[in-house]
Amino acid sequence: MLKILVCVSGGGTNLQAVIDGIAKGTIENAQIVRVISNNRNSYALTRAKTAGIDALCISPKEYSDREQFHESFLTAVEEAAPDLIVLAGFLVVLPQKLIEVYRNRIINIHPSLIPSFCGTGFYGLKVHEKALERGVRVTGATVHFVDEGTDTGPIILQKAVAVEADDTPESLQQRVMEEAEWQILPQAIQLIAGGRVKVNDGKVRID
Ligand code: GAR
Repeated sequence: MLKILVCVSGGGTNLQAVIDGIAKGTIENAQIVRVISNNRNSYALTRAKTAGIDALCISPKEYSDREQFHESFLTAVEEAAPDLIVLAGFLVVLPQKLIEVYRNRIINIHPSLIPSFCGTGFYGLKVHEKALERGVRVTGATVHFVDEGTDTGPIILQKAVAVEADDTPESLQQRVMEEAEWQILPQAIQLIAGGRVKVNDGKVRID
């Protein structure tokens, strides 16, 4: 059984897709053991509690410095002892130590086709604003492993979504979520739970 820790900051629709995937059996042999939000008002925390999942808020705002926040965060991760950490719209930079200890066991969902519209400053609605500004015809979402960079780790799955002439950042965000994110995040977890994802030389192979 793959034990999953999900980290969230906002609405938690991707978290919900994982909860639903496990409930429906499209994700097998996996269990969410804990949800951590950096934001006390995150609706994701309500989603977790409704599903009966242990959920807690660890906010950098509630610590006097970054080091203390990291310490608390690492303790909460260690307590949960996950096999996989899923960043589902988590807008906080992870402690370096966590990335080292959990190498190739942390995944992130990003709302574009990496390497387009990613990196520092590209998150949430901003990603879709930039895609529309550039006039791309196709965008999408990416699930990747997390390394020391921002959105630079090995890519596991991507799905393309067509941009429509009358799209707004909001309409595009919604379609990218529905058509790509809520599908490929559960799919990636199912592949990992099945032991089918290998990383070699910075690239993912799916068996
Ligand atoms: C999602 O669109 C996710 O891809 C994005 O934040 C949103 C969270 O929504 N993540 C990033 O931009 C990370 N760089 P949700 O809370 O409803 O899942």
